[in-house]
Amino acid sequence: MQERPKRLRRCQLSVPGSSEKMMEKAAALGVDYVFLDLEDAVAYSEKRPSRARIVKALNTLDWGKTVRCVRINDLTTEYAYEDIIEVVEGARENLDMIMLPKAMSASDVQFVDKLLTMMEKKLGLKKRIGIDVLIEEVEAMMRVDEIAASTPRLECLIFGMGDYSASQGVSLRDIGGATGYPGDIWHYQRQRLTIACRANRIDAVDGPYGDFKNPDGYREEARRSMILGMVGKWAIHPSQVAIAQEVFSPRAEDVVKAREMKKAYEAALAQGLGAVQYEGKMIDIASIRIVNNLLDRAAQIGM
Ligand code: COA
Ligand code: MG
Repeated sequence: MQERPKRLRRCQLSVPGSSEKMMEKAAALGVDYVFLDLEDAVAYSEKRPSRARIVKALNTLDWGKTVRCVRINDLTTEYAYEDIIEVVEGARENLDMIMLPKAMSASDVQFVDKLLTMMEKKLGLKKRIGIDVLIEEVEAMMRVDEIAASTPRLECLIFGMGDYSASQGVSLRDIGGATGYPGDIWHYQRQRLTIACRANRIDAVDGPYGDFKNPDGYREEARRSMILGMVGKWAIHPSQVAIAQEVFSPRAEDVVKAREMKKAYEAALAQGLGAVQYEGKMIDIASIRIVNNLLDRAAQIGM
């Protein structure tokens, strides 16, 4: 079986596929991951013409190391299959990922997987196109384990709190998480999704924060999801990109400390000890597993 490629997703920037100007801007930002949108950021009248705009942007702009994704319309619409066909036929190897919104079940992801398999064969593509999936309906949250295990082509699940709020009936006042409810309204959903992702060795990413003129609020939401094991957060505006890429990068001092901790543990092992003190706290092999997660992240970023 083909290995899943390792891709950075500290920030996934949403860019309306209807806007040539914004796609141009996005290509120059140096963001880990961009998804060119055909779904909610695009008006119905612009959905079909935007496919060609997206293909042109993928084929002609210099994207550097940025992962290039297209978010298609959901599988209940009349757009979805042609979104995939036109974009993949047009951009071929200049496309890395398809993002599927409003998935309801594993079979939704498998449909996209099969269509991509057919197209890769027909077009003779050398690279496998990956799939990222939005979990934004209560049905999807209930089936998140089967969705996470649906296909080896799946690389990441994203918690989409906007549509999810509508699906669950969460009141608009509480989407920001600031009013009245004791605790974080997304605590359960982020935990649930992250556990399913980790168990299937795929990435978990946190969705959008619409109040883009509130960098502190955005940073706090990113920090919460990072602590739970998510690897990144969406941005809907360029001003959010640097914040996400910082929050989801290990801090340099933590990397130094992690390496020291590993050394201290290895020295302890050499003396026949499984647990030792490090800076006044106990460390053992479980601490080292946590440290290794951080060092893996650092290596992926090139720290
Ligand atoms: N990607 C790339 N460029 C973007 C951008 C994005 N998501 N959002 C804004 N920009 C650009 C603007 O075009 C503008 O460029 P300019 O300085 O060259 O004119 C610059 O960044 C500053 O934008 P600003 O004037 O602050 O905001 P705006 O009114 O142009 O756009 C939004 C605000 C919310 C409409 C816009 O950010 C947007 O469309 N975001 C994405 C929405 C989306 O994808 N939704 C679906 C997923 S939740
Ligand atoms: Mg949505």
